[in-house]
Amino acid sequence: MGSGADFKAFEAEGWSARADSYDRLMGRVTDRVAGALLDAASVGPGDRVLDVATGTGAVAAAAVARDAEVTGVDISEEMLDVARERVPSGRFLVADAEELLLDEQPFDAVVAGFLINHLPDPERAVAAWGRALRPGGRLSLSLWNPPEANRFFGLIGDALDEAEPGEDSVPPGPDPYRFADAGELAALFAGASLSEPQVTRLDFDQPVEDVEDLWRGLLGGSVRSAARVKALPEAERRRVRRRLERFAARYRKGNHLAVPVSVRLGSAARG
Ligand SMILES: C[S@@+](CC[C@H](N)C(=O)[O-])C[C@H]1O[C@@H](n2cnc3c(N)ncnc32)[C@H](O)[C@@H]1O
Repeated sequence: MGSGADFKAFEAEGWSARADSYDRLMGRVTDRVAGALLDAASVGPGDRVLDVATGTGAVAAAAVARDAEVTGVDISEEMLDVARERVPSGRFLVADAEELLLDEQPFDAVVAGFLINHLPDPERAVAAWGRALRPGGRLSLSLWNPPEANRFFGLIGDALDEAEPGEDSVPPGPDPYRFADAGELAALFAGASLSEPQVTRLDFDQPVEDVEDLWRGLLGGSVRSAARVKALPEAERRRVRRRLERFAARYRKGNHLAVPVSVRLGSAARG
């Protein structure tokens, strides 16, 4: 593995352990962003699409529904197994997103949903994705907006911020919100010689059955937040769960929660 090997190993292990629980809630949320991600990369019928960090295959499935031809890569074999079952016509391979060496390049479009905030060397990754594109092809990516806007992660973050920190369980990793800044994202594309940058955002409310659904969905669909919770002593963990309940109460709508989700989307073209 390249740079940030400890963090990547932590991520690979964490996501692999969540392959079966990711779609309980997290995959339902990222699924709602798949169409916008594909639109940003102008994906249409017959296009050859590379879905980087395909996870359980939400974006790959949406691309196939558009009659595109999909190759999905991920660092986790367990995630890929779920994607293979979901998208039988896709081609799925284990690969580190920062070190793509695929023999079927170039692609008409490269998409990377909710990955850039997990990479120790995003500049290197985006350069590799740009090289995988045909001239004129587009790259698009998505990431979470900061917790003040994206309450979906903000609620658990607030509940954790008031907790006594547990053992240091998360290796040093990238700032999850660096590219939520439109200027940082545009500079990332420019650094990889990609042109025509477009940066937008997508906001919606996610229906969640109740706080237990939110709690279990976040623990089963995140790696860093889940590790912070897991590192807490049992009593502190229960306090975090109670605080989540208190903070989430303001999003109750009838018999469910409507939790605000906020996503940054960016795209650019190979010149
Ligand atoms: C939040 S999930 C996003 C999955 C999917 N794109 C979606 O929108 O639902 C992050 C994914 O990135 C993968 N991942 C993390 N680091 C990676 C790396 N260095 N190279 C390839 N995949 C990676 C994880 O295994 C996981 O499947």
